[in-house]
Amino acid sequence: MQLIDGKQTSAQIKAEIAQEAAQFMAEKGRAPHLVAVLVGHDGGSETYVANKVKACEACGFRSTVIRREDDVTQDELLSLIDSLNKDPEVDGFIVQLPLPAHIDEQIVTEAILPDKDVDGFHPVNVGLQSIGLPCFHSATPAGIVELLKRYGIKTAGKHCVIIGRSNIVGKPLASLMLQKGVDATVTVCHSRTENLPEITRQADILVAALGRPGFVTADMVKEGATVIDVGTTRIPDASRKSGFRLSGDVDFDAVAPKCSFITPVPGGVGPMTIAMLMRNTMLAAQRHSK
Ligand code: GUN
Repeated sequence: MQLIDGKQTSAQIKAEIAQEAAQFMAEKGRAPHLVAVLVGHDGGSETYVANKVKACEACGFRSTVIRREDDVTQDELLSLIDSLNKDPEVDGFIVQLPLPAHIDEQIVTEAILPDKDVDGFHPVNVGLQSIGLPCFHSATPAGIVELLKRYGIKTAGKHCVIIGRSNIVGKPLASLMLQKGVDATVTVCHSRTENLPEITRQADILVAALGRPGFVTADMVKEGATVIDVGTTRIPDASRKSGFRLSGDVDFDAVAPKCSFITPVPGGVGPMTIAMLMRNTMLAAQRHSK
């Protein structure tokens, strides 16, 4: 069993991007600029945004965090997005999700100019990705494919089973794994899937992205499979300084001995998501400066 080290791989990718950013700086006289909009004080969102800012520093990017309180109106948020769309100093921006219940996330997502949508959540980018055209790939799926590539894990002709059909992980990952050059055979399972363990046991590459701690047990995994754990549920833990620990969707201790490769939580997919956001931002700056 080999552990897939997302932390180290993401550090490597950020170092590669930093070189590109230095060259960009030398040619254009400015750094790529990422803006993150953070609404409210959700603990997870605070952490993600702080990590995105740190990653920008590692890559030599400029970053800006724009904060709004929980009671910001949808119209106020839309007008902020409009100003970011038009701001020539902003290469790309994200609106950290989830948003408060009174704000429609779909309307917000669609308000972001596709050329600045470095999350790759806008329907235009989702559509471009699904037919294999250049676009901003959504970061978590792109990070998973990058890990498989860098660890030399064969995907062509292999059966990739994805548990979870979310718009930001399951669905876009299915389309990336199907892409020419990746060439996996893809099955997407979800809460209504019948005989789930029977299907997951066929997986050469099993991706758990449903958000249920420890959901994938040893009996669901084929001997020698690669297991990718996208889960990051916060479990209250008084013994930790933070008051919680992160739990993946895979029962790691039981599953790991059966795997050829497995990602840990934390330190697997999470850091890769941020590295892919940096890559999208680099791309946005290069496109934007043309
Ligand atoms: N919330 C959880 N993951 C993400 C992400 O990748 N981007 C944004 N904007 N919000 C998120």
